Amino acid sequence: MMKKESLEVMSSREIAKETIEMVLKNAYITEHAVPGQFLHISIVGHTLRRPISIAAINQKEQLITILFKKIGSGTTALAAYPVGSSVDALGPSGNGFPIHDLPTDKRILLIGGGIGVPPLYYLGTTLKAQGVEVQTIIGFQSKEYVFYEEAFKQLGETYVVTNDGTYGYAGYVTDVVNEVQAFDRYYSCGPAPMLQAVTKEFPKKVGYISFEERMGCGVGACLACVIETNDAAGYKKICQDGPVFAANEVSI
Ligand SMILES: Cc1cc2nc3c(=O)[nH]c(=O)nc-3n(C[C@H](O)[C@H](O)[C@H](O)COP(=O)(O)OP(=O)(O)OC[C@H]3O[C@@H](n4cnc5c(N)ncnc54)[C@H](O)[C@@H]3O)c2cc1C
Ligand code: FES
Repeated sequence: MMKKESLEVMSSREIAKETIEMVLKNAYITEHAVPGQFLHISIVGHTLRRPISIAAINQKEQLITILFKKIGSGTTALAAYPVGSSVDALGPSGNGFPIHDLPTDKRILLIGGGIGVPPLYYLGTTLKAQGVEVQTIIGFQSKEYVFYEEAFKQLGETYVVTNDGTYGYAGYVTDVVNEVQAFDRYYSCGPAPMLQAVTKEFPKKVGYISFEERMGCGVGACLACVIETNDAAGYKKICQDGPVFAANEVSI
């Protein structure tokens, strides 16, 4: 269950252009988090909380890693939090990726773009520990934004794509899907146009997609995060029902 918690900043460093890796300490979050969940962070000087995915958990040492891009005043202010300061967050928030129904002999594909990459790392490490074979495609704008390539390589075959071709394969994540081995299920996180392209690419596969579009209240009240669904209800809220959905459940 999500709780309001205080997390201590243990380290913070820039690992790629405008991209921060921050390690936080908190017992409750490390005990309860599952891959695909996020922290809803209150940042000094900002009324609305900012959602940031959990990128890794070290249960023994009660550490949580988050990776975020400085895109505006909230994330820039968060990047300036010094070691030893405390971060106020609601968490672990969101539903997370379904993983327990997956037999250990399966092979899966992770597909991430930009700030959608972080939750897939936590997912990949968890699945690998479960005995699942992991393959990854990660996409970035250009070379200087690439992060966690080596970390994903430790999990399995990894393909890096840059939009401008300055590193790895050139183009979009969907341009390298022919390179990967046959897989049983995919998990994807990234901007909506990327998720749309990914679901179109694999119409017959079981897939789960996670949305990182803008959120407002984060508690189901403002409808800023509504997404169209294929069922009778017609819509769901990313903040309450997501951020993860079955690929065939939503229309992007
Ligand atoms: C469930 C979830 C998980 C997320 N996980 C991560 C993560 O792990 N790492 C990470 O870096 N980011 C993540 N994000 C996105 C992150 O929440 C936003 O980047 C952040 O809230 C921006 O705050 P800001 O104050 O810096 O920018 P603002 O000052 O609020 O905005 C600056 C500019 O960026 C645009 N913008 C704001 N939010 C988004 C967004 N979500 N997508 C695209 N453009 C946006 C605004 O329209 C504006 O032009 C996640 C979002 C969600 C919903
Ligand atoms: S963010 Fe307000 S309803 Fe989802």
